[in-house]
Amino acid sequence: MIEIAPSILSANFSKLGEEIATVEKAGASLLHVDVMDGRFVPNITVGLPVVKAISRATRLPIDAHLMIVEPGRYAEQFVKAGARMVSIHIEADPHAHRTLTAIRAAGGLAGIVINPATSLSALDEVIKFADYVLVMSVNPGFGGQEFIPESLDKVRRLRKMIDERQLNTRIEIDGGINVENIAEVTSAGAEIIVAGSAIFGAEDPSVALRAMREATVLWV
Ligand code: DX5
Ligand code: ZN
Repeated sequence: MIEIAPSILSANFSKLGEEIATVEKAGASLLHVDVMDGRFVPNITVGLPVVKAISRATRLPIDAHLMIVEPGRYAEQFVKAGARMVSIHIEADPHAHRTLTAIRAAGGLAGIVINPATSLSALDEVIKFADYVLVMSVNPGFGGQEFIPESLDKVRRLRKMIDERQLNTRIEIDGGINVENIAEVTSAGAEIIVAGSAIFGAEDPSVALRAMREATVLWV
C-alpha cells in the first residue's frame, strides 16, 4: 500500500495544529516529524515535547525521523512520546541492532535510514532487524532540496534485495519528492512517500496532497 507522509518541517509552526488537521482531512496516512540536533545534520528542529503534543492533537500515526547523534539514547523515548514509527540513521549508530530492538520492544516500528552516499551494503546485516528502510533522496538537514536522481536506482536495488531475502521490510523515501516524480518513486518500489515542501509549501496543501496521491494511483 502506498502511503503519503507529509513532513511538518515545511509547515507553518505558528499554526501547526491547523496544518496537521488539513493534511489529516485530505487523506494523509502518516505524519513525518524530522528531529534534528544541529550535530548529525546542520540544522535544529523539534524534539520529544513536540512529538508528545502532536500525538495528542492528531489520530495520524507519527513517523519520527531522528537525525541526531547517539540515537540510541532517545529512540525508545520517542515511542513513549507517541511516535508509531521511529527511524535512526545507520551512519549515526554503531549499535543499530540494539537501538532497533529497543524501538520494537517499546511497541514501535523500527526504521533504519541511509544517506545518499551510504551504500546498500551497509544494510546487509541490519535489515532483518528493521520494519522499514528509509532511503534519503537528499542530504538530510533541510526541506526544499532537489531530488537526487540516483536514488531511484537505489530504491530498485533495495526492493530486489528485500524480495530476494523474502523480507516484509517496507521502503520509505524522503527528500525532493513532488507531484512530478512521485510516480517514478513508487514504481521503483517505495511505499511510504515523505513530502514536505511539495505539500506544505503549496498554496493549498490538501489539493497538493490529493494531486500526489492521484499521480501515484495512475502509475502503479
Ligand atoms: C530532510 C528531511 C525531510 C524534509 C523533506 O532532511 O528529512 O523529511 O522535510 O522535505 P522536502 O519534501 O521538501 O524535500
Ligand atoms: Zn525526514
